[in-house]
Amino acid sequence: MKGVVLAGGLGTRLSPLTKITNKHLLPIYNKPMIFYPIETLVSAGIEEILVVTGGRNAGDFLRLLANGKEFGLKHLNYTYQEGEGGIADALSLAEHFADGDRVCVILGDNLIEGTIRQAVEDFRKQPKGAKILLKEVHDAERFGVAELEGERILGIEEKPSKPKSNYAVTGIYLYDETVFEKVRTLVPSRRGELEITDVNNAYIREGTMTFAHLSGWWTDAGTFESLLRAANLVAQSQAKQ
Ligand code: G1P
Repeated sequence: MKGVVLAGGLGTRLSPLTKITNKHLLPIYNKPMIFYPIETLVSAGIEEILVVTGGRNAGDFLRLLANGKEFGLKHLNYTYQEGEGGIADALSLAEHFADGDRVCVILGDNLIEGTIRQAVEDFRKQPKGAKILLKEVHDAERFGVAELEGERILGIEEKPSKPKSNYAVTGIYLYDETVFEKVRTLVPSRRGELEITDVNNAYIREGTMTFAHLSGWWTDAGTFESLLRAANLVAQSQAKQ
């Protein structure tokens, strides 16, 4: 399985911090944000990783990450997203890299306390389809929200004003090789982007989506509150170790 870190976008919710740099290069406590999702993939045993970035500061990723030696990698792959097409558009740039393999996709602003090793192992055994990781939150309207019926997932709503559950869909997605075909069928949402939630709903309609609950804390870092929360959570975790 290959890993894809999505680190494009303008990060407008963090302006003016993102006026002169990419959101994923901002500090979270003692490391740049992008270090954390790369570490999440590496600690799950994924060694071939693609970073999808964009914008004016894309060159800084190469200067910062180089060949990924710091993460124990032999090399890192990079690609460039032109414009602001959304998460699923960024993912479509990984098709060549995936080359028929399965992918573990992680959003560059998603940080977790624990590991995704078990989910990755379980997905390796799953004959086909996709797997997502859910986390119970108190502000579900900020995220993609899963509608559940026991062990079944019925659908996902992107940032609903009245969430059908408290289970946010985290920015960690496991996909089989059909994901790129599914992205090609998407149409832009109201915010003008190709939504990852539409990709996930395509798998749900097909009946091949599974889910697991993520243990330990999870946070995104795309707003001022969540950026601060992420730094505090990382600092607390490090103090505990
Ligand atoms: C994106 C996804 C959303 C998901 C979230 C996780 O939202 O669209 O479904 O719950 O990431 O971080 P965005 O960060 O683009 O608002």
